[in-house]
Amino acid sequence: MWQDFPLFPPSASTTSGSIDALYGYLVAVTAFFSLLILVLVVTFAVRYRRRANGPKVVQIEGSLRLELLWTVIPFLIAMSFFVWGASLYVRVSRAPLNATDVYVVGKQWMWKLQHATGHREINDLHVPVGRTIRLTMTSEDVIHSFFVPAFRMKRDVLPGGYSQAWFEATEVGEYHLFCAEYCGTNHSRMIGTVFVMEHEDYERWLGGATAGEAPEVAGRALFESMRCDTCHKAGTDPSGPARGPSLVGLFGSEVALQGGGRAVADEGYLRESILEPMAKVVAGFEPVMPTYAGQLGEEQILQIIAYIKTLKAEGAR
Ligand code: CUA
Repeated sequence: MWQDFPLFPPSASTTSGSIDALYGYLVAVTAFFSLLILVLVVTFAVRYRRRANGPKVVQIEGSLRLELLWTVIPFLIAMSFFVWGASLYVRVSRAPLNATDVYVVGKQWMWKLQHATGHREINDLHVPVGRTIRLTMTSEDVIHSFFVPAFRMKRDVLPGGYSQAWFEATEVGEYHLFCAEYCGTNHSRMIGTVFVMEHEDYERWLGGATAGEAPEVAGRALFESMRCDTCHKAGTDPSGPARGPSLVGLFGSEVALQGGGRAVADEGYLRESILEPMAKVVAGFEPVMPTYAGQLGEEQILQIIAYIKTLKAEGAR
């Protein structure tokens, strides 16, 4: 419907249609009431204007019916905004399981993207059509914002933590990628392109582009060179006392913390545990882990996390 309407970007993801529908509804309700009020103001001003020998004004001193009416109707309309908006928000903010991971690092003034296959891109993102892509994003410096209008997807990218977003493209094509948070002199040039491709074309692209090390492979090498394995048994052999908790099957599980409390071992938890090991100490272990802040860059931390994600108990999937 909006394809030929230049004010509206193309709609090319599984959620963009629903977001447009909500947007249309909000605009329609707002326009309806603005018009209604305008018409009533003008009509009443003309009809009930003061005349020389007009009727006497009758004061209405409260009407329960009327008051209920103008309370209940706006309440129901406001609730429709809330219910529709909140359910859509939950849907777009939770990435479906079994998504394909892409790691994004923003910096002044470029987007660095890393695929699970080891392919790296700058300011370009190639994805196959019809596959769910989950972005795990962080910034090396200031706040950026990853914005693909055609997918109706925008998420702030913050230094010092991860933000996640996901999309599933439904139309093959090339789409704008913007930075949507003012981040310095060349903010306006922090742009790129998302290439949505047919599966065969995507496979061809994968074959033609030189792949670097897969993040989990690079992460494993880092894990060993930083000597993480002296305290954290990464293998499936749990023999011998360990100074740190095992990382096998850790990702996505719930961890009991010292002093009570629990935490879900997601990307944010792992990142914090690497940079600020004292923030959340696992119950039953001494707070002896040194910080790796300053020794690891954001991309390297993402690689180590990608490696930890692969550590699964035998037989588990
Ligand atoms: Cu990055 Cu604006």
